[in-house]
Amino acid sequence: MKLIIDTDPGIDDAIAIALAHALPQVDLIGMTAVFGNTHVVQSSRNARYLADLLGFDVPVAEGAALPYGEVSYAPSDYVHGPEGLGDLMTIPQIGQNDPRNAAQFLCEMAAKYAGELVICAIGPLANIADAIALDPSFVTNVKSLVIMGGAFEHAGNVSPYAEANIIHDPIAADAVFGSGMTITMVGLDATMKTLLTPTDFDDLEKAAPKIGGFIKRIADFYLGFYRSVGVIDGCPMHDALAVLACTDPEKFTFQMTGIKVTQSGDEIGATVADTTRKPVAVAMGCDAVWAVDLMKTQISGLG
Ligand code: BDR
Ligand code: CA
Repeated sequence: MKLIIDTDPGIDDAIAIALAHALPQVDLIGMTAVFGNTHVVQSSRNARYLADLLGFDVPVAEGAALPYGEVSYAPSDYVHGPEGLGDLMTIPQIGQNDPRNAAQFLCEMAAKYAGELVICAIGPLANIADAIALDPSFVTNVKSLVIMGGAFEHAGNVSPYAEANIIHDPIAADAVFGSGMTITMVGLDATMKTLLTPTDFDDLEKAAPKIGGFIKRIADFYLGFYRSVGVIDGCPMHDALAVLACTDPEKFTFQMTGIKVTQSGDEIGATVADTTRKPVAVAMGCDAVWAVDLMKTQISGLG
């Protein structure tokens, strides 16, 4: 499977990237960086740093710095750390970003691998909305867009109604859900069922001292954040679960419904049913034991 990850790394993004690299059926052909957990320059730096750590080299194309309609953005450093990867500081820029911006790169790859390319979007959706605006054929060239984002029946995680990736750019998210692309939404209904415990991170470190040890180190910050908001038994897999929805959709249960994103008021960023829109496969659950085990087994193989 040809895959591009659109990302704002991010602790759970780092786990998702490691998992995509480890899965034998995934051909990760590039990453695109977006603002979100960090500023976009830090996102692309972190994506390149993670690729180098994991031992692979793919184009990293930098994209949107700001949400649609905004003039500033404050990253979620209290969730992911000052530079996005837990307590890591002064993360170096390794090599150069791709000269194309994210939307150009996405459109060119979608045209090159028309009908084949899967995009896994695990940050706010500005780059995907930019690609839709740039090239009308992008919508049909992409085989499928798998989004980590949204909360359908589950409560939000930034507000009672909204999940982070959606509320950080509700205009872009609504444009994407209304675009007619073939979309799978892996939101909190599924991801909050896949908690990773401190023991899971200990296991990863034991099995794979370099990569598992790195993940354990950065996950400490994430576990701390979740403890501070009352989730005491672990941190959700979030972004890595979206990668598994690309490769193993049969392990998920879905509800088919059009989705629109609330644009104002208390419920801004909510993902709600809109039956006038093309149906999206909304993940309502998954085989959580399988997902956690597979992630651990695959990443353990990285050493
Ligand atoms: C999503 O928001 C970010 O903090 C995570 O990386 C994930 O993509 C979870 O709501
Ligand atoms: Ca993310």
